[in-house]
Amino acid sequence: MPSKSPSRIALPTDRSTTRPGAVVFFTGLSGSGKSTIARALADDLRARDPRLVTLLDGDEIRALLWDDLGYDAASRATNIKRIGWIAALVAEHGGIAIAAPIAPFDDARRAARAMVRPPASFVLVHVATPLAACEARDVKGLYARARRGEITDFTGVSAPYEPPQDADVVIDTTTTDLATAVDRIREALWASSVGGDSDDASAVNPPRPTSPVAGS
Ligand SMILES: Nc1ncnc2c1ncn2[C@@H]1O[C@H](COP(=O)(O)OP(=O)(O)O)[C@@H](O)[C@H]1O
Ligand SMILES: [Mg+2]
Repeated sequence: MPSKSPSRIALPTDRSTTRPGAVVFFTGLSGSGKSTIARALADDLRARDPRLVTLLDGDEIRALLWDDLGYDAASRATNIKRIGWIAALVAEHGGIAIAAPIAPFDDARRAARAMVRPPASFVLVHVATPLAACEARDVKGLYARARRGEITDFTGVSAPYEPPQDADVVIDTTTTDLATAVDRIREALWASSVGGDSDDASAVNPPRPTSPVAGS
């Protein structure tokens, strides 16, 4: 069973043929809950979904792969382009990529969506926790530093955040607990994953287009 292309790894059929791959792409302010929900979703899917799950956390990816990138608009666009490309590759190979960057710009998010080729699907999750709540949490002390002017280009304080108009799931963590957030995202993911044959939501939810038309 020689493979023609070295990039085509022979995937175990029980993983690759049940359903196409998918990207779950989180966006939201720092401290909104992206990493917390993304990790809980990854654990949940590893227990319930046959597809391999790859978690691409924004902070981890930046630190591990391109800590030379800054937070100016051009660097943020590059960051999302790279994360989007890796995520699309995972999905093309039948896996689930969970990406959790801030992704403040609409153009970059739409480009990430457009990179995912059907039948793989793309689910945009807006963690829409209000700025005041994120700042009150200030998990990493970054808002205080940004307010003091010690950090520039800080999203929500000194850099813009464009709320998505095309989110598939919107979660405000001040009113939605973690378990409910995971449930809602899993349902949206399974509804987007057409062609499944496992015992899950794809059997009860009517199929819908796997990848909405991208804007740019
Ligand atoms: N319902 C919730 N969902 C997710 N996180 C929550 C929720 N309620 C409170 N939190 C807290 O909010 C913080 C979010 O931090 P984090 O997940 O690192 O955010 P981000 O990755 O968006 O910067 C964590 O301290 C988490 O415990
Ligand atoms: Mg995070």
